[in-house]
Amino acid sequence: MTVRSVNVFGATGSIGQSTLDVVRAHPDKFKINLLTAQSNVERLAAQAIEFQPSHVVIGDEAHYSALKDALSAHPDTKISAGEAALVEGAQDIKADITMAAIVGMAGLAPLMASIAHGGLIAIANKEPLVAAGAQVISAAEQSGATLLPIDSEHNAIFQVFEPKNKAAVERLILTASGGPFRDWSLDKIKSATPEQAINHPNWEMGAKISVDSASMMNKALEIIEAHYLFDMPASKIDVLVHPQSLIHSMVEYSDGSILSQMGASDMRTPITNIMGWPERIKTPGARLDLSALTQMTFEPVDHARFPAINMAYEALKSGQGACLAMNAANEVAVSAFLSHKIAFMDMHDITMRTLEKRQKADLNSLNEIITYDKLCRDLAESFIRKT
Ligand SMILES: NC(=O)c1ccc[n+]([C@@H]2O[C@H](COP(=O)([O-])OP(=O)(O)OC[C@H]3O[C@@H](n4cnc5c(N)ncnc54)[C@H](OP(=O)(O)O)[C@@H]3O)[C@@H](O)[C@H]2O)c1
Repeated sequence: MTVRSVNVFGATGSIGQSTLDVVRAHPDKFKINLLTAQSNVERLAAQAIEFQPSHVVIGDEAHYSALKDALSAHPDTKISAGEAALVEGAQDIKADITMAAIVGMAGLAPLMASIAHGGLIAIANKEPLVAAGAQVISAAEQSGATLLPIDSEHNAIFQVFEPKNKAAVERLILTASGGPFRDWSLDKIKSATPEQAINHPNWEMGAKISVDSASMMNKALEIIEAHYLFDMPASKIDVLVHPQSLIHSMVEYSDGSILSQMGASDMRTPITNIMGWPERIKTPGARLDLSALTQMTFEPVDHARFPAINMAYEALKSGQGACLAMNAANEVAVSAFLSHKIAFMDMHDITMRTLEKRQKADLNSLNEIITYDKLCRDLAESFIRKT
């Protein structure tokens, strides 16, 4: 494998750090060009000193001078700041691999700018796919970019999906750990705190995706993500709770075969899989010890306690406006929950109410998508103020 250049958007986050772990394990295979963060100056500066990118971007301009000070001994590293600088970084700095690991819709504009270059786009940032899946896929088709999934479920499907036998795919089966509240009663879930919600039993992740996992909104977003990534109708996408998170997802074919991918609950496996693709290179992550397994169980989703899954199917039926509204309202609601402004189940009510009012939209350009996203966020905020 020749040395591949890498841009990491969201380098200081959970996926970003795991990506740099893979790069650290293979200094002969990867070279970092660009690193970005939103506000974590200390971590971004440490990463820049270690990986020597040509360019670093901090999203929040208030942190520009602190970053400049921290990198004063490294004048060769170009530093810029602000939302527009993230997009400019994506436009100006070409890379063989772009890791899209910003959290939320904030990642959409840098993602689209990166896609325009072509190359391999490793996509962890699921929210832009949920809100603007058709535009993301079509931009990749136009530029020739190869869009490959990092999300463990979609990466598992990618590994066992046979494009030439697409017509024989009967079901994509997304597995779900069930999150920290899998065994909790509805009453107990209603009084769950942010601290309890981010305490995931199997995975260590950023706060937003951890809360989404607790509500199973993460799986709801993944249903829509799978629809776009594998061009499958909602009727062929199922969810199965698998508390041990050993099988990361499955594809069922018409001959009765179910192909699955297994591995430790460690995002460095899917990240290594995509960064080495189409070769297989060594992961620095944990390994699954099959001889230590005591059990592997599966159960259906309890929709009364986890209503987000059905909401995703409804949103997909309604169209892009509904998917975008669901995602936008959820981002706003998760943030309000994490700041102790609303209760756990309020997140669902706020998202549902936003979805009911904002589903019909003719969205074509990036600007129309961003404007509609803002409208949905404002509506969700107004519901939060009245809660
Ligand atoms: N973590 C996982 O295991 C996992 C698995 C599958 C998919 N994903 C997806 O991957 C994405 C990242 O997840 P994560 O868990 O790594 O999140 P995270 O730990 O919260 O990290 C988010 C990253 O994005 C940056 N960021 C935050 N807000 C931003 C903004 N407004 N503009 C630009 N950058 C911003 C953060 O910078 P600061 O550090 O400076 O705040 C950080 O680098 C999410 O879409 C998530 O759904 C994650």
